[in-house]
Amino acid sequence: MNYLVTGCSRGVGLEICRVLLSEGHDVYGIARSHSEEFKLLECDYDGKLFFKSIDLSDCENVRKNVFREFVHNGIQLHGYVNNAAMAYDDIVTNLNLGKLRQMYAVNVFTPMMITKYVLRNMLLHHTQGSIVHISSVSVHTGYKGLAMYASSKGALEAFSKDTAREWGERGVRSNVVVPGFMETQMSSSLTAEQKDRIYKRTSLKAATDVHSVAETVAFLLSEKACSITGQNICVDNGTI
Ligand SMILES: NC(=O)c1ccc[n+]([C@@H]2O[C@H](COP(=O)([O-])OP(=O)(O)OC[C@H]3O[C@@H](n4cnc5c(N)ncnc54)[C@H](OP(=O)(O)O)[C@@H]3O)[C@@H](O)[C@H]2O)c1
Repeated sequence: MNYLVTGCSRGVGLEICRVLLSEGHDVYGIARSHSEEFKLLECDYDGKLFFKSIDLSDCENVRKNVFREFVHNGIQLHGYVNNAAMAYDDIVTNLNLGKLRQMYAVNVFTPMMITKYVLRNMLLHHTQGSIVHISSVSVHTGYKGLAMYASSKGALEAFSKDTAREWGERGVRSNVVVPGFMETQMSSSLTAEQKDRIYKRTSLKAATDVHSVAETVAFLLSEKACSITGQNICVDNGTI
């Protein structure tokens, strides 16, 4: 199977690539940086892993950058993982429109545009494909400073549910994985005290395991999940 994964250079996206490759799939990864960790995976899976450096904040040129120059229609896509994201965190009274727009470009507009062309690819090849968006526990629980970020993820959850409804007849599924806080670069600015407070809100009293998130994504992409669509699957250590 061929899968498109955004945000493949580190963190969750890199782990998703690792899991999909270990299952024998071909992976097309997008991020801005061609990281050393990704290059190591390329060595391990020669001819199975492909990379293109694209700045996903450029939502105007998605068709050209992603679909004309990388995953053209000659490649049959079986799934798309919308993982790349940025977090613009601040309290609402400090909201800056430029920063908000940039975050929405990466987290919402570009993923919607990619979904458009992924669906067209799936229709062209009569593929009963699977789309997985990565949301965040902050949509459902609420954290001070995350209102703008959480709103972008909430938009994706709505988009996924309605995409599932719209394209279900053609066998295309769309689901969301909702992770809790994980130890990645995105959460690296939090202090140990802040992290501790966040983890105390989970049943398992710990950070969400990146590998568990990646395995859940791989499951949703697979035939094993053929009856699951329009769902939000929480992988959050039981956040209260
Ligand atoms: N970490 C958490 O606690 C947490 C919790 C809940 C949900 N999530 C979600 O989980 C997903 C993965 O996050 P993570 O923790 O793995 O974050 P991360 O370590 O910051 O990785 C983000 C990935 O997105 C890529 N990316 C960011 N901006 C981009 C842009 N403009 N163009 C292209 N690629 C871009 C980055 O690559 P480059 O920088 O190389 O471009 C990187 O590969 C995200 O959707 C995030 O919102 C994270």
